[in-house]
Amino acid sequence: MQELRLSIKSGELPFVRDMFNRIAPHYDLLNRVLSLRRDVAWRRALVDSLKVPQQAGVLDVACGTADVALQVAAQYPLAQVVGVDFAPRMLARALSKIKGRAVCLAAADAFALPFGRGCFDAITIAFGIRNIQDKVTVLHCFYDHLKPEGRLAVLELALPDRSILRRIYLFYFNRLLPLLGRLFSGHAFAYTYLPASVAQFPPAEVFAGMMRSAGFKRVGYSKLTLGLAVLFIGEK
Ligand SMILES: C[S@@+](CC[C@H](N)C(=O)[O-])C[C@H]1O[C@@H](n2cnc3c(N)ncnc32)[C@H](O)[C@@H]1O
Repeated sequence: MQELRLSIKSGELPFVRDMFNRIAPHYDLLNRVLSLRRDVAWRRALVDSLKVPQQAGVLDVACGTADVALQVAAQYPLAQVVGVDFAPRMLARALSKIKGRAVCLAAADAFALPFGRGCFDAITIAFGIRNIQDKVTVLHCFYDHLKPEGRLAVLELALPDRSILRRIYLFYFNRLLPLLGRLFSGHAFAYTYLPASVAQFPPAEVFAGMMRSAGFKRVGYSKLTLGLAVLFIGEK
């Protein structure tokens, strides 16, 4: 796959693309191990929430290794599914997984989507928005690319609210997870950055407010697996 020459939008974290390129070979395995396979159920819940017509056009932004795009294709066999990501090695893994499935892939930055306005019935982003600093601008961009009444579904990791569970989870997340990540992937930084970026993600109500300020209506969210992940839904 050709090396991408995408400029990183100013204000965005410059190391994110490089980091995902480095961990791409181990990304799927680590997701399954570190989340005890909850990531699979969370992506299914994301796709369940779309409720779009069978022949919908669905864009998965920050698609990584295409797990969401493949889940959409499985649940909506007649849909036109497109995945975009700015890390070429994540896309290369995605390409090796989609074999013959009706999923298209494109290299693109979430801030510069190579599609016309108003052309998708749904846009999804799973575990991607946490890596994006200017969340309001990117939400505006998603809004522009949706058809009227199109749906945005955002899945993101979170920290549990309940204090005992939160303490246990923080021990796992801040201490054990970076060790396991380093052991399996050889990249210590990515799995130290992961808990730090989750801790910095705004509270669910604040992020829901950002979606509203970008124009989305009927914004709602649900917490999954004791609040370890949050699924946000909004409509254009
Ligand atoms: C944690 S991975 C999530 C991958 C996939 N959505 C999943 O469910 O496993 C985050 C992905 O977001 C991508 N990403 C981060 N910022 C991006 C941006 N501004 N534009 C496009 N992709 C981006 C990274 O390259 C990476 O593949």
